[in-house]
Amino acid sequence: MDIAILGYGVVGSGVAEVIRKNSQSIATRAGEPIRVKKILDIRDFPGSPDSGLFTKDPDEIFGDPDIKVVAETIGGTRAAQEFTRMAFAAGKHVVTSNKELVAAHGPELLKMASESGVSYLFEASVGGGIPIIRPLSQCLAANIINGITGILNGTTNYILTRMRRDGMDFDEALKGAQLNGYAEADPTADVEGHDACRKIAILSSIAYNEFVDSERIHTEGISRISLADMQYAEYMDSVIKLIGVSRKEDGRIFARVTPAIISKDHPLANVEDVFNAIVVSGDAIGDAMFYGRGAGKLPTASAVVADIIDIAKHNECNSSVWERKHGDNMVPFGDSESAFFIRASVRHKAEAEKYISGVFENVEYIRPENMNNDTELAFRTPKMTEAEFADCIGRLKGIASVKEIVNVVRILE
Ligand code: HSE
Repeated sequence: MDIAILGYGVVGSGVAEVIRKNSQSIATRAGEPIRVKKILDIRDFPGSPDSGLFTKDPDEIFGDPDIKVVAETIGGTRAAQEFTRMAFAAGKHVVTSNKELVAAHGPELLKMASESGVSYLFEASVGGGIPIIRPLSQCLAANIINGITGILNGTTNYILTRMRRDGMDFDEALKGAQLNGYAEADPTADVEGHDACRKIAILSSIAYNEFVDSERIHTEGISRISLADMQYAEYMDSVIKLIGVSRKEDGRIFARVTPAIISKDHPLANVEDVFNAIVVSGDAIGDAMFYGRGAGKLPTASAVVADIIDIAKHNECNSSVWERKHGDNMVPFGDSESAFFIRASVRHKAEAEKYISGVFENVEYIRPENMNNDTELAFRTPKMTEAEFADCIGRLKGIASVKEIVNVVRILE
C-alpha cells in the first residue's frame, strides 16, 4: 500500500523512519508492505534518508490513484485542513497527529470522511504513543464512561518535573522540552494549557458520544506555578500537575484544564517527565489507566503508523461521526466545584487571619517550618463552587491587611 506524508517535521520524519525501520513486521501485521511514495513539504531537506520522495506539488499526491492513505503531520488548521479535505475528495484515507484540527473541525471532517467512504483516524492526536483513542472508542465501548482524568501534555509535565526535582527554572526546562521535540511550534499552546484542552475535548467527545467544544473548556496553564508553590505542595505531601478532567454530570459535561495539587497517593502523581497518563472511569470496568510517552518523534509516529496499518487491514471507512451540539451541553464554569490552595502576601498576619476566617469557612493553614515568614499566608479551602470562590476572592482582596493574592491552585480530590 502506497502512502504519502504531508509535512516532514518532528512527527512526519518519524513516520518515515518507523516505516523504514520496521518495514518487515509492519508488512506482516498490515498484510502487505507499506511504502512511502511521496512526502510533501515546502522546505528542502538535503541529505535526508528520504531524499527522492519530496515534492512541493500537492497534485503529485492527490492526483495519484496509487496513494491510498495520507498522513497529515503538518499541524495547525489552515493548510492541514485544506489538504485533509482534498484527500477525502480524492477518496484517500487520512491519519493524523493534529489535535488542533480534530478539536476545532472534527465534526465536519469526520462527516466528510464518512460521506467519501474513507477513514479519518487520529490515534496520535492524544497521548503521543499511548493507545487511547482506539481503546476508548472500541475496547471500552461496552461501558458508560463516567469520567476522564489525565496528564495530557508532555512538555508541561517535563517542565514541572525538572523544576520540582532539579530546581531548574521555567525557561531552562522549556528549552529542554523544545530540544527533545516535545513542544508545539508555538510552545504557548503547551504552557498555557491549550494543547491539553484540545486533547480532553477529543477524549470527551469520544467518551460521551457528543462533540465537546474545546472553546468552552475552562483552561489555565502552568506559567504562574513557581518553585515556592511546589514547596507548599510538597509540605502537603502532594505534587502539582497540569490536569485535564471531564465527567458527565446530570446529562451535561463538565471539563476543565488547570494546574492542580494532587496527593502523592494519586495514581497520576508519579507520572513524570514527558510521560502522560489517562485514567478512564467506566461503569463496567471501573478505573483503567493508560500510561506512556506523551510526546516526541518516535512515540507519536508509532501511533500514526498504527492507524495506517489499521486502514491497510480493513480498508473501509471506520470513523465515527460527531454531532455539533447547538444547545448548551456543558456545565457552566461557575457551577463546578473544587477545593483551593491560596497564597496571599499580608501586611499584618494575625489581623489577616482574623478577616480571612470571616470570608472562608474552615480554612486550613499550611505552614512549612522552612518557609515561615511574616509576610505570607497559605491556606486551603473546603470544596466550593467556582462562583462562590470568585465571590470570596473579591472579598479577600478588600481586606486591608491582605496585600496581594500571590497564587491560587486547585486541589484535586
Ligand atoms: N506538544 C505536545 C506535548 C506534543 O508536549 O504533549 C504531543 O501532543
